[in-house]
Amino acid sequence: MITDHKLLLEAYNSLFDNITVRRDEVLKFKEFLETRTSWLTSPASTRFHLNIERGLLIHSVGVALNAIKIKNLLAPDISDESITIVSLFHDIGKVGDVDIPYYLKNDVDWEIKKGIAYKTNPEIVTMSLGTRSLYLISQHVKLSQQEAQAIVAHDGLYPTNGGVNNLEYFHRECRLQMILHFADKWTAAVEEENRK
Ligand SMILES: [Fe+2]
Ligand SMILES: [Fe+2]
Repeated sequence: MITDHKLLLEAYNSLFDNITVRRDEVLKFKEFLETRTSWLTSPASTRFHLNIERGLLIHSVGVALNAIKIKNLLAPDISDESITIVSLFHDIGKVGDVDIPYYLKNDVDWEIKKGIAYKTNPEIVTMSLGTRSLYLISQHVKLSQQEAQAIVAHDGLYPTNGGVNNLEYFHRECRLQMILHFADKWTAAVEEENRK
């Protein structure tokens, strides 16, 4: 996990060297995110992993570095560009929307003491985070079907609200989704939360 600000920005900027075919649109998206959204400062959650300033960037860069390693080992035919786009931006929905951050600093003392450092912004229209990521990216970058599936279903299966999340993708996950899902899970559980 890269937490040092300078090293984090270096690693983040280097990832864009992997983008060649859609370079113009991705660099415009980068500029949009950095100037019009909370991308460079947003936490990754309200109370769980990396609920700190820049947590989202720390997590996203970590997932990208791990996803690229897995891709190179198991599926070298998948392009560096494809794996970099889906992994770096899989959680981009967490920035919210233009000038409306998804996460706001919590101002309730007892909640902060319990570790709830941020709260979600009531101005944000409800949408699953994977869908919000897809909503934001696809306004700027043309995606393949596999890239879209990987982003929208990156959480994979987990129990939610009395049902199972992403059940519709079960046994129909493309390789990009599986690599991203595992890289995301590994990065959050092992590197960010120290699971043994
Ligand atoms: Fe996510
Ligand atoms: Fe994630």
